[in-house]
Amino acid sequence: MTTDYVGLQSVIWSGDKLDLLDQRLLPEEIVYLPLTTSEDVWEAIRHLKVRGAPAIGISAAYGVFLGSRDASNTGEWLEQVRKEAEYLATSRPTAVNLFWALDRMKARAAAIVESELPLEAAKQALLDEAIAIQSEDEETNRSIGEHALTLFEAGNGVLTHCNAGGLATAKYGTALAPFYLAQERGIPLRVFADETRPVLQGARLTAFELQQAGVDVTLICDNMAGMVMSKGWIDAVIVGTDRVAANGDVANKIGTYSVAVLAKAHGIPFYVACPMSTIDLNTPTGAEIPIEERSAEEITEGFGKRTAPKGIKVFNPAFDVTPNDLVTAIITEKGIIKAPYDVNLKNLFV
Ligand code: MRU
Repeated sequence: MTTDYVGLQSVIWSGDKLDLLDQRLLPEEIVYLPLTTSEDVWEAIRHLKVRGAPAIGISAAYGVFLGSRDASNTGEWLEQVRKEAEYLATSRPTAVNLFWALDRMKARAAAIVESELPLEAAKQALLDEAIAIQSEDEETNRSIGEHALTLFEAGNGVLTHCNAGGLATAKYGTALAPFYLAQERGIPLRVFADETRPVLQGARLTAFELQQAGVDVTLICDNMAGMVMSKGWIDAVIVGTDRVAANGDVANKIGTYSVAVLAKAHGIPFYVACPMSTIDLNTPTGAEIPIEERSAEEITEGFGKRTAPKGIKVFNPAFDVTPNDLVTAIITEKGIIKAPYDVNLKNLFV
């Protein structure tokens, strides 16, 4: 396991509980919440205390363990694992990593029961699966970073949207992984972070974690992306994703689509970085990806005070879909793939 990651860890298993960094409080306060039940984990995911597709999946995996650890016989335990997985799957709809991690925990529990392990050993083996999901994510992200770094040259300006960094994953992040690696190796890159309205993941999280890591990062409001591109300051865009459909359409934080259109208009490559667990071959196109809608207050009172008239109609989708023809390449731990995505995504799994 690599150990040179300099950022904060969002999810820490500490023996008998999950210590979760409350990302709603960043960058002002660094507070770890001790979670001991699956309800705690559900609530943390729903209310964005933990967010980012891989971190949601990792947390949910621990949630399954927490929710089933008091079972008193193997049959009851397996039943409880399945129930907890079903329950945690209702926390948020878009990031497929959540469902991927829950399916993996259910499959592991079934295999454990098949192997007739005694109950306490079975529970430990399921916890080990959650720990493995987390540590594999760290390795995966370093590989994504290695591949993505080959796309940039020293001195490049790179724009990113939302937070696909260490805070959104086990460590390093996906879209931000190349910046950590570049920093380790003394390769200068200039990162532009979109603020990312309405929840400000870019301002509160990406700007925070890259600044902490010593990366050259400049914060801009979302509506400044076109202007900085027109000035010639941006050589590439790189973002994470919550789900890639089988045809290469990409769901990511609301505003990503607009950035992709702007990148196209300026002849700038638009890259998407994600683990294989974010690719969902069962969802044919972006049109079938469920898009979460969140509360109106995120828009009308997001800055801690009311910024819109009472009673105003609000539309607040948390994600949008970027069509595959705007995606220059998708970077996974297995390498960099380009169109035709329907063929090349499928080939990644053989
Ligand atoms: O609503 P969020 O903060 O969970 O949205 C997060 C994103 O859109 C990220 O870009 C995505 O999950 C990839 S994280 C590696």
